[in-house]
Amino acid sequence: MKVRTSIAVSFVIAAAIPFAAAVAREPSADQRADATVAEMTPAEKTILTHGIMPLPIGENPPPVPEDAIPGAGYVHGIPRLGVPALKETDASLGVSYVSGARGDYATALPSGLAMASTWNPELLREGGAAIGQEARAKGFNVMLAGGVNLMRDPRNGRTFEYLSEDPLLSGVLVGHAIDGIQSNHIISTIKHLALNGQETGRKFVDVQISDANARESDLLAFQIGIEIGNPGSVMCAYNRVLGHQACSSDYLFNQVLKRDWGYKGFVMSDWGAVPGLEAALNGLDQQSGAQLDPDVFFDADTLGAAAASDPRYAARLDDMNKRILWAIYDNQVDKYPVRPGGEINFDAHADIAEEVAKQGIVLLRNRNGALPLAKEARSILVVGGYADTGVLSGAGSSQVHPRGGPAANITLGGEGPFAAFISEQYHRSSPLKAIAAMAPEANVKFRNGFYTSEAVEQARKADVVIVFATKWASEGFDQPDLTLPRGQDALIDAVASANPNTIVVLETGNPILMPWLDKTAAVVEAWYPGMRGGEAIASVLFGETNPSGRLPITFPASESDLPRPKVDGFDTLEANFGGDAPNPDAELKVDYNIEGSDLGYRWNAREGKKALFPFGFGLSYTSFASSDLKSNGKTASFILANNGNRAGATVGQVYLVSRNGQTQQRLVGFKRVELAPGEERKVSVNIDQRLLAEWNGSGWTIPAGIYDFALGEDAENLGRTVSVRLSEHSWKD
Ligand code: BGC
Repeated sequence: MKVRTSIAVSFVIAAAIPFAAAVAREPSADQRADATVAEMTPAEKTILTHGIMPLPIGENPPPVPEDAIPGAGYVHGIPRLGVPALKETDASLGVSYVSGARGDYATALPSGLAMASTWNPELLREGGAAIGQEARAKGFNVMLAGGVNLMRDPRNGRTFEYLSEDPLLSGVLVGHAIDGIQSNHIISTIKHLALNGQETGRKFVDVQISDANARESDLLAFQIGIEIGNPGSVMCAYNRVLGHQACSSDYLFNQVLKRDWGYKGFVMSDWGAVPGLEAALNGLDQQSGAQLDPDVFFDADTLGAAAASDPRYAARLDDMNKRILWAIYDNQVDKYPVRPGGEINFDAHADIAEEVAKQGIVLLRNRNGALPLAKEARSILVVGGYADTGVLSGAGSSQVHPRGGPAANITLGGEGPFAAFISEQYHRSSPLKAIAAMAPEANVKFRNGFYTSEAVEQARKADVVIVFATKWASEGFDQPDLTLPRGQDALIDAVASANPNTIVVLETGNPILMPWLDKTAAVVEAWYPGMRGGEAIASVLFGETNPSGRLPITFPASESDLPRPKVDGFDTLEANFGGDAPNPDAELKVDYNIEGSDLGYRWNAREGKKALFPFGFGLSYTSFASSDLKSNGKTASFILANNGNRAGATVGQVYLVSRNGQTQQRLVGFKRVELAPGEERKVSVNIDQRLLAEWNGSGWTIPAGIYDFALGEDAENLGRTVSVRLSEHSWKD
């Protein structure tokens, strides 16, 4: 035994020597970045620090370099030092179409909310890898992806782009998506740091929040996402935080991101979000799309001049370059140069988009097994939602055009340089066609729902009615309330009153209220389901796909249950998408200490409120049981079983319920599992200790006491609690 061990040890040592030598020959990204900075002339040091929008946008659009590709951004490279230009595109849902400036098309994944409803990190990684490959094939080496702002208000217009209201779920999912994107040797951002919780007054809304509340919520989502995804860049936010523009926040960049989290990459600004040169001292590393800012601050004339006379700027300038270079080298962007015209397997990527849609669709109600529909159904009436044409998508910088462009496009942006970004677009994937294909024997009719009387009359004659309801959302605009617009609530009410066998399919970018819920047979939340959404919806309706989506956001029972009655400033301010610079005179404070770190389900638990549909909720065509929870506070294990007669997937959810008898609800672990009928499986999850802890001012503390954990069907339907005694302990980030 002894001899064997020593042979094994000497073998390991012998094998390790050439390996160590090889590692020593290959310098790290850090070492390479240091070496390049040391080679740079003063003039070269202000090349990577600012970029342009390579589009005719802004008052004085700069000349567009020959190698630029129409997209969100371009940063010159330094050919002498082998540093590539950075070519930037939006982003999280696919390579965005920038008002058609490139004249190409790309795969449109479902919305962020749909992705998050899958609770499937691996699938998000696959989606990220696919859109990253497309970005690369189109000649981009930076994706402005990784939107992870937590949903503090369901009326936020960008809710559809983000993932969830929970720091663990959002952080894990975004980390995997970023990892997928960067697997293509390109850089991904994570964005928008931080607390970008509403669009109203988005360039000056001033978030008031305590350090502890921020670290335990929005910042924790970023922290987890960065740990898992290792993004080369962080994009800062438009809003202010504690009186400072987020893109010039010493607190967010120097203290939290770089000092406490040890982040090595660079912070790029959002477009038109830089207030001035001092942002460099506050930790901003790169000024993006600089023609949208009041001035180009990070160029030779301003930043370069400051560095020549002020050692603080000189030190920062080296650090800014080092960080940008680190991101380039860490992802080997220089070793795998991008070239436009690469091959894209659009069919394979569309399959991924469809899979995300299928796994992300959430079955909210299914009275007496109304779904799945029998393929032998005789007469089906489909009403509304442009279901004969396509499926809705969200607008703004994340908008993607699949092949052929939108099937319908309602422009809503008025005039101005960004008008084309603001339009209600339907992808070419008609649910009506997909439904008809699933039920070839049925008489499938369509009414657009413009006239309630007509829809009601037809509904009376049909076996089944499927009403499609849409609620459009866009970057730049919040929503006044959680109703369905354009009279759709009244339409659903009337149709469901006429035919109790009414199924409602929702294509929304946010939670909604459902005053008509009790009259319906079934409700399906399909979100913005991406370029194959119609097929995915039909597949769920007819049971080819057993729904497994779970809500990543609370559907409140009423707007009065939300922490604030209206989005702050909504009634007084004009919506603002696009070009305006931060306005130092404008004032709008929002108090995020109201809910603090208790967003969504945590707010409801704290306030004793019940949701219309809680976080984590979602029905299936089979039934599951979860049991046998065991935990020591660091891990949890439990058993999931499919006790129905169809294969399906469920999501095991472990919640902290209370600490020392005080309500303290937090999702601490989750796992999506596919189970055959009758199958059961033991599942274990690690518990991120930060979720049990409190921020103590310089680190985390788990207070001593009894911690009660439970398995949840969702955040409100919790099983028997398991108590764990934990002793006090603290640690640094
Ligand atoms: C958005 C960012 C986006 C950028 C570039 C901004 O309006 O807030 O998310 O990446 O534009 O298009």
